[in-house]
Parts: sequence; structure tokens; C-alpha cells
Amino acid sequence: MTTIQTVAFDDQKPGTSGLRKKTRVFMQPHYLENFVQAIFGAIGGAKGKTFVLGGDGRFFNDRAVQVILRMAAANGAARVIVGRGGVLSTPAASNLIRQRKTDGGIILSASHNPGGEDEDFGIKFNMANGGPAPEAITEAMYREASVIVSYNILEAQDVDLMTLGESSLGGMAVEVVDSVADYAALMETLFDFDAIRAMFTAGFTMRFDAMCAVTGPYATEIIEKRLGAAPGTVVHGTPLPDFGGMHPDPNPTWAHELMAEMMGPDAPDFGAASDGDGDRNMVVGRGIYVSPSDSLAVLAANAHLAKGYTRGLAGVARSMPTSAAVDRVAEDLGIEAFETPTGWKFFGNLLDAGRATLCGEESFGTGSDHVREKDGLWAVLLWLNILAARKQSVEEILNAHWQKYGRNYYSRHDFEAIESDKAAAMVDALRAALPDLPGREVQGMVIAAADDFSYTDPVDGSVSARQGVRVLFEDGSRIVMRLSGTGTQGATLRLYLERYAESGFDRDPQEALAPIIRAAHELADIGGHTGRTEPDVIT
Ligand code: G6P
Ligand code: ZN
Repeated sequence: MTTIQTVAFDDQKPGTSGLRKKTRVFMQPHYLENFVQAIFGAIGGAKGKTFVLGGDGRFFNDRAVQVILRMAAANGAARVIVGRGGVLSTPAASNLIRQRKTDGGIILSASHNPGGEDEDFGIKFNMANGGPAPEAITEAMYREASVIVSYNILEAQDVDLMTLGESSLGGMAVEVVDSVADYAALMETLFDFDAIRAMFTAGFTMRFDAMCAVTGPYATEIIEKRLGAAPGTVVHGTPLPDFGGMHPDPNPTWAHELMAEMMGPDAPDFGAASDGDGDRNMVVGRGIYVSPSDSLAVLAANAHLAKGYTRGLAGVARSMPTSAAVDRVAEDLGIEAFETPTGWKFFGNLLDAGRATLCGEESFGTGSDHVREKDGLWAVLLWLNILAARKQSVEEILNAHWQKYGRNYYSRHDFEAIESDKAAAMVDALRAALPDLPGREVQGMVIAAADDFSYTDPVDGSVSARQGVRVLFEDGSRIVMRLSGTGTQGATLRLYLERYAESGFDRDPQEALAPIIRAAHELADIGGHTGRTEPDVIT
């Protein structure tokens, strides 16, 4: 064991989901090591503890896993459970942390950001409940990292991570496990695999785009092998360190191959995609895209059809910028609906306390209390289970849903890589104007209320302020604006647009939302501040 003298980096502040930087930043001498030591410091040390370790397999994953193993050993950890090859999807890691009753886990991923030496890398810590560390812990990591003077590491050769089983590293047990097995077993307890298999046997067709990222082996095992979908149902199924140059973000822009197929003449019945680390999902029917907010609402309304949820839902939770579609379902079911800030970590307390069963975000995340992360394949399997039970198409299910609850037309516009100071100035100006907005008329609509979202956690009472500016109109329409907390270059403005309709459900969302979009540009003067008038990505 050696103690290495080091100098603190001043930028090791975790964002929405862990510390995320350019891969080359992480490859600098001591950068990864400093942060890993800060993680151990923030959780009260590693001595005697058991951790799960794995990542999405992107460039530098293999090197980082070896470093972390040597540091865990040098810091006295008792055992580290590693996915084979150092690979685990984020939901599979969350599951292992829980199943094996460990003290938490380290997950290496920059999620949906591109991978490679010139792209992105990330690291985060999940707690013993399987969920991302809460803000108090991530702030402690930042404090530790800001004053660090040394870290502990073992001098040793690389551990063989390709052979399943146990070995010792300086007295610490290293247990290499199959990355897929435990996760697939969990899915079998939640969903009616027989019914889904029968649907495939009867000719149901599907495309799953793994985007050359971590879900390939999971989807192939579960969808093709266990559920009997035709070989080739899973495409881009081999994980690659640079995701084959793909941007592994399952949205209509980046999953354009899947979108083209689903909107084309030979579309299968159902399409889905997942992201770099397997926690996001996009769902598409033949000729019809399902927005994440609608997907959450449909899943909430139909979850009881799957065997893991026959008892019904304790409650539902969504992030503030997510549309209110699921709130209408909750009202109908007579269950609680929670509105949290952006970031899966805010669902943890509600799930642990048994107050929410299903959670979801507009950012293509859906999940339940089976793990403490969002879970891409889980959402796809729940959709498959619902399709098998209802024996209807995605389009029929969506239309029936809107007939019953009305439709929350919804879209998100992203303006990427804006100069950070310009983005900050724009948000500051909007914040300053908030008190004067109520009563003002914009684009023929009157503003009813405007604020900067603040959240008080109903379980532990913690307060998270300044989580996004929202402008509510008298007709129930809404604009939300916030800066992304997951980017690595400049600032990304996210503009969330929503309008509720009780009839006329087949409009193009961009057209239905046109006045709201114009109002947002007028109110925030996006063009004046940033020089941008058109978004880079529309979801
Ligand atoms: C990650 C988090 C999500 C969050 C999303 C968007 O995927 O796990 O909870 O909604 O990032 O965050 P951003 O700050 O970029 O809007
Ligand atoms: Zn992800």
C-alpha cells in the first residue's frame, strides 16, 4: 500500500448525476484517484465495506476499474463485486447493490453522452439503497476533493476481470459476477414472460436499438433468448468503447435509425432504444412516437397488468419539468403524485418510504421501486407486458389514454453549448423578472404565476431551491426553463413546453405548442442573450 501525495483539482463538483468530464480530464495523473479518495472520505471511509463496481464499458472504463479496485483495497474495503469485464448497466448495478446488501457502489458512466478518448467519462457513487448519493453526500465529496492532499493505492498487477469467481487483491476479495444474470432474474419476477413470449410466437415484431452501448447483452439475453423475439430484433447489440461513434441517447434525434424504421412502411409493431448505461428508454409504436411523459402516464395507468404491480401503486412521482399527464392518472387512481426537481436522486426517499412505486422524467427515464435508478429495459418490458395483456397496438393504447385523460401536448427544446456566461445572464434576467410576470399578457395568453421551483423533500424535510424557472398561464399551459446539469461543454438551455387539450388529440406537438414556444422566446429573449433562435435537439 502506498500513500501518494497529490494536489486538489478545483472542478470536482458532482452535477445532476455524478462527476462528468471529458475523458482526457479523467486521464490526467491523479484526477480519478483524487475523486475516488474523496468518495471514500465522504462516506466515512471504505474500511471493512463491500461495494459493487462496474461501468457502461466506454473508453477508459477498463483502466478506471483497475485503479478503483487498487484504491478500494488500499483503503481497507473487504469486498468488491465487479461485473464481468468491469461492465454493469446502471440499473443492474443498483440491483446488485440491493440484492447483495452492500454498502453501495461505484458506477462509471457518462450516461447518454458520447464515449471515447475525446468524448465523455463519468463516475458516481450509489448508496446502500442502490440509489444515487443524495446532495449532502455529493457536496461532501466536493469538499473532500477540494482539500485533498493524498490518496491510498495498492501497487499490484491488473485483476483478471474476465473470469467469473473470486480472487484476492491485497487481502480484499474481488468477486467477478455475470453482469446480466441477476438483473434478468429480477425482471422475470416482475413481468409475465409467458404472455410476452406467446405474443412473439403469435407474430408480434419488435426492434430494440442498443446503440452500441451497455444494454446489448441484456436485451439479447432477455428479449431474444428468454422472450423468444426473432434473432436480429436487437440491433447495435455489441457494446463498443466509443459506442461505434453513435450518440447513445435514446431520443428521436439521436436514435434516428430506429425512428426512420418505425415511421417507415415496414415498421415492426414496437420499437425501443436505451442509452449508454442502460437507464434511459425511448418507446415508439408503429408510426407513433411516445413522449416520455406520456409513457410514464400510460405505464402508471396500466402497471397493474404486470405481475410485479398487481397490488396497484402506492404513488407516482415525476420531475417538475415532466408533463402533468401522470398526475391525471394518479388523481383517477386516488394515489399521491409527487413533483420533484430534475435528477433521479430526488426519487430515492419517496421510493424508500414506500410513498411512490413508479417514477419518471421527461428526459427518457422511467423506473419503479424494484431498483433505485431509472431502468430502460424495465420500461420496455413493462410496455411489452401491457401490449400482451391488452392485445392492442401502441397507437390504440395511446389514443384510448388521451380519450380518457386528455392530452398534455409536450416538447423539450435544447440549445446546446451556449457560452456559460451568456446562459447564466439570460436565466438571471428571467429570474429577476419573475415577480412582475403574473397578470402580463404574452402572445395572447395571460400569465397566472411564475416562480423558481423549490422542493421540500416530504420524507427528510431537505430543501432544494432554484431548480428551474416556471411560467404558468391562465389556460393551464406552462413554460419551464433550466440549465442542464449533465453537460460537459458550455451550458445547455432546456426549454420545456406544455399545453393541455381536452379534445383534438392528433395534432403535431410543435404546431399545438407554437404560441407557447413564441411566448418563451419573447419572455426570455433567448435570441438576444444567446444568438440562438432554433433548438439543436427537439424531443
Ligand atoms: C440524468 C439524470 C436524470 C436527469 C437527466 C437530465 O439522466 O439521471 O435524472 O433528468 O440527467 O438532466 P439535465 O440536468 O441534463 O437536464
Ligand atoms: Zn443513462
